[in-house]
Amino acid sequence: MKEQLLEIKQKAMNHIEQSPSLKELDHIRVQYLGKKGEITKLLRGMGSLPKEERPKVGAVANEIREEIESFLNTKIQELEKHQQEERLQKETLDITYEPPLPRIGHFHPLIQTLEELEDLFVEMGFTVYAGPEIESVENNFDALNAPKDHPSRNPSDTFYIDKDTLLRTHTSPVQIRAMKNHGAPLRIVSSGRVFRPDDVDDTHSPMFHQLEGLVVDKHVSLANLIHTLDIFIKEMFGEDMETRYRPHDFPFTEPSVEVDVTCHSCHGKGCGACSYTGWSMELLGAGMVHPNVLKHCGIDPEVYSGFAFGMGIDRIAMVKYGINDIRLLFDNDVNFLSQF
Ligand code: PHE
Repeated sequence: MKEQLLEIKQKAMNHIEQSPSLKELDHIRVQYLGKKGEITKLLRGMGSLPKEERPKVGAVANEIREEIESFLNTKIQELEKHQQEERLQKETLDITYEPPLPRIGHFHPLIQTLEELEDLFVEMGFTVYAGPEIESVENNFDALNAPKDHPSRNPSDTFYIDKDTLLRTHTSPVQIRAMKNHGAPLRIVSSGRVFRPDDVDDTHSPMFHQLEGLVVDKHVSLANLIHTLDIFIKEMFGEDMETRYRPHDFPFTEPSVEVDVTCHSCHGKGCGACSYTGWSMELLGAGMVHPNVLKHCGIDPEVYSGFAFGMGIDRIAMVKYGINDIRLLFDNDVNFLSQF
């Protein structure tokens, strides 16, 4: 039986030696050392041996078992090491590889312009004030001194929700809210969406953006208004920009002006963009707050005076970025927007 055991050992060792894979080594373990393996099978026949022989054979069997086991483990370790080395060689790591960056967005040119405007006015001591897009007829027209028959009240110029409610046609109703809530003195800007039933073309959209400004204090004059706007225009567009004030008519300011600014494209020489006038037209409306408006908000016009202005943010963004069609601002074409 000893010889048979040694034979099994030799066979197992050769088998292990030639074995090319971990899987095969696993089979070999079962085949020789398993519960139904060759050694166990052989030892079942021990009953036929003389009694004193049995322990000796058992000891040899254990020794052989251990030898096979240990050789098997060595071989497994060798194979594993070899496999790891192979893997490391194949998996080279290129530390110079630059993966494509995810596309990072940025603010819309309109919002960039809006924030730049607000920042400028905040630097000049204004507070940013917010108002709703759905407004009362009272705040949008009545309190702003608009006569009952003013053409802007016509349903062809205003989106009404019901007879008392509308989509604000300008940011001026925020003046009323600010004055009613806080009284005088006051220095605010307010920006946001406004709505008018205009047909869409390259300069008109039924939804656009305005920035409103209001200053109420003692001894506020037209000179303060002109000075403030001049500083603003030069800061926003450049030192060489001139302003031109033309008389106008708004129900809520007296006197009222419309402000033109040196054409951004030709710097005043005259070009197609400014119809050869040298001026970008109607960039903003402004004036001294009408005494009726102050009175309506509980502010004494004998003590306080104020100026207000309102500008089209879309227009300003178009002038600033040289955009010639307002629709481009609302199409949300990423190729267009990614230029800014
Ligand atoms: N609300 C006016 C408009 O929409 C602009 C304006 C604001 C004029 C404040 C004077 C004072 O045209």
